[in-house]
Amino acid sequence: MDGRDLVRSVKAVGSAGAAQGWRTVRAAWRRRRADAVGLPPRGAERARVPGIVQEAEPGPGGGVVRFGRSELRIVVAVNGAAFWGWDGAGPEPSYALAGRCPEPDPRAALEPDKDGGWRVVAERVTVAVSRHGAIEVRTPGGVVLRRDQPPRWWEPVGGGPARWMVRSEVAADARFFGLGGRASGPRLRDGTYRLWNTDPGLAFAPGDDPLYVTMPVQLVVADAGTHLLFHDSSWDGTVALSEGREGAGSGHDRPGTSVLRMDGGPLRCWVMVGTPARVLLAWASLTGAAALPPAWALGHQHARWGFGGEQEVRRIVAGYQERDLPLDAVHLDIDHYDAHQVFTVDQDRFPKLPVLAEELRRDGIRLVSVVDPAVPAVPGNAVYDAGAAGDAFVRDASGQVVRGVGWSGDAVFPDFTDAGVRQWWGGLYEERIGQGFAGFWHDLNEPTSFAAFGETTLPRSARHRLEGLGGDHREAHNVYALCMARAAYEGLRKLVPEERPFVFSRSGWAGMQRYGGTWSGDVATGWPGLRASLALVMGLGLCGVPYSGPDVGGFDGSPSPELFLRWFQLGAYLPLFRTHASLRAGRREPWEFGAEVLEHARVALVERRRLLPYFVTLAHLARRTGAPYVRPLWWSAPEDRALRDCEDAFLLGDCLLVAPVLDPGADRRAVRLPRGRWYDTVTERAYEGPGQVLVEAPLARIPVFARAGAVVPVRGRDGGVELEVWAPARGRTGGGLVVPDAGDGWEEPGIERYVARWEGPRVVVEREGEDGLAGPSRPVRVRGLPEGGPAQM
Ligand code: NOJ
Repeated sequence: MDGRDLVRSVKAVGSAGAAQGWRTVRAAWRRRRADAVGLPPRGAERARVPGIVQEAEPGPGGGVVRFGRSELRIVVAVNGAAFWGWDGAGPEPSYALAGRCPEPDPRAALEPDKDGGWRVVAERVTVAVSRHGAIEVRTPGGVVLRRDQPPRWWEPVGGGPARWMVRSEVAADARFFGLGGRASGPRLRDGTYRLWNTDPGLAFAPGDDPLYVTMPVQLVVADAGTHLLFHDSSWDGTVALSEGREGAGSGHDRPGTSVLRMDGGPLRCWVMVGTPARVLLAWASLTGAAALPPAWALGHQHARWGFGGEQEVRRIVAGYQERDLPLDAVHLDIDHYDAHQVFTVDQDRFPKLPVLAEELRRDGIRLVSVVDPAVPAVPGNAVYDAGAAGDAFVRDASGQVVRGVGWSGDAVFPDFTDAGVRQWWGGLYEERIGQGFAGFWHDLNEPTSFAAFGETTLPRSARHRLEGLGGDHREAHNVYALCMARAAYEGLRKLVPEERPFVFSRSGWAGMQRYGGTWSGDVATGWPGLRASLALVMGLGLCGVPYSGPDVGGFDGSPSPELFLRWFQLGAYLPLFRTHASLRAGRREPWEFGAEVLEHARVALVERRRLLPYFVTLAHLARRTGAPYVRPLWWSAPEDRALRDCEDAFLLGDCLLVAPVLDPGADRRAVRLPRGRWYDTVTERAYEGPGQVLVEAPLARIPVFARAGAVVPVRGRDGGVELEVWAPARGRTGGGLVVPDAGDGWEEPGIERYVARWEGPRVVVEREGEDGLAGPSRPVRVRGLPEGGPAQM
């Protein structure tokens, strides 16, 4: 038990009542005991390395290289991604892949390399393996992006899963990103990052790791190129990263290193090489297109743990309406459940939930429901009875159903790694649909089982079906939430076939974007928490999860008016824009922080609504191209080292650059601009990049810049889409894409492509069509014209 455990157990006993407190103590002991008898003892181990190369056998897209004590399969797929697997590991089965493994690229072949090694040369990447089993990832030009030393395994003498380790080197100038949601990111500095989805228990700050979403996905950016590496094993592990250092003068370069240690699972990985955009496209083509949120989920959402009841919900909604503040969704937390039991409603507090939902919907406001996986272990509870009858709950090694602790006491956990269980669970959302809910917020699905000490999850020895292959929680833990999201997504598709499901999930793994997004979890209220919120959104985006956002204002405590406002202003430019807080936290309605904050928050809300068509476009582009809405400044210029180290600003799509205020008391801030002309969107003053500029950042707003030439779809006064065009630099052209909102269904709207150029003294905007360029069918407003310049078109 460490200090944190102690705080946790005191909190558990104190706050949730003595009974719940002791339950968590018992659960922790039970968990320990289960693992003591259910897991094989570690015992003696034998170390192994691949040995010396023996022979190679070409095959489609690559081939197999045999070593004295292992064999390596290399395949380059048609999407340009390269796969390799040791000990016969193939790409399937995999929870990360969207479907079947892509076809091998028939043009890629295994051929001899120097010094007795072998290589596969493909269009975008060369994978070379030395005679000892070291692997190099090279660019088509032959520059080495990554060098893996031969792996090492430790195999239990008595049999069982082997631990393994891979040590890799990258360029001295390389920077690491990714590994899921990391509060200290987005640039991952020297340290050890764990791969085990975890509820930190208390609200987290930047130093806390791991959090809810971990993934063995590294995005590495260096002068020579960008690569994404994915080790497809869901087991517990760690990645120790150390950035390199370039030797000054005649000094030697020290490469960057990554040491991956896994407790088990296949040693197999995928690598994608190219520009950041190309790499993310290949990653999305492998792990699946991001679910498209309905337009309302790109607006402002207000949540609260502890609304109390219908009256309070109505009061808050009226608060927004009376002040003419845009609101698109209200989220109901566990307190709307009957005694905290999932898929129920507390009829005293919410006597007519479907009526409330309908009334809100008429005002354009949707209801979203929290859903926890823990099912109260209470005979008579309908979900428990049905699940027990269908053998849906996770069992331990002796065959007993595993008991953990949820909000309402002893709980059992569905085994989402079973297709039948997923189908059953997906059907349960019918009750939610009947109550009028339009979206779903998966919580505590790491999975979390409250425990006074030790890990707050299921015993590692707990058995899981794992799609019929069978295994235990060591393998299933990290994909538990991914499978729960799949259950909900597929269930909702059947229940409401005409609407796209909206699901976002606290925990997840590689591929989770197929079913929806995530949020930043219980971020601690404070300036470091504000910074962490941005780090998480950026890091997740680079792992292929484009839709996320923080609890605006932080989860616990009470933010100062200034902190709340700065959080709100940042949140207004993130995909998920949601205010939320804990039961015991202070208020989070924008009018609770004084008149000045309210006025500035109103500006942020109104601007968010005005930018909705742009967010809709970004959502479509994320789905079609894998490019996240929120991108690091180096997205289009990864070779720019100053941008690579810049973590306090971001690109929102291709058009905008957002520079949030992340420090107290600041009324101006330095902003690093990528190449080209950038307009301050409020003053319309033009700045030239690359370089750093100092700009005003009064409480009223955070600096936002538009790229010269950008065509930004915005909402006009009549609700229609207008084009806001930022004048290209003289002699240059610009352009932009618009994907119109086609409602909450499955219609695939076409992409409108616009070009902007100077024609004499005027900026002309045209739409590309099959017959060439034509005038746009949408109203156009040109901004950023020099003073005294031509009037708007
Ligand atoms: C933990 C979640 O992270 C938080 O958002 C939620 O309010 C509480 N659980 C209660 O459901």
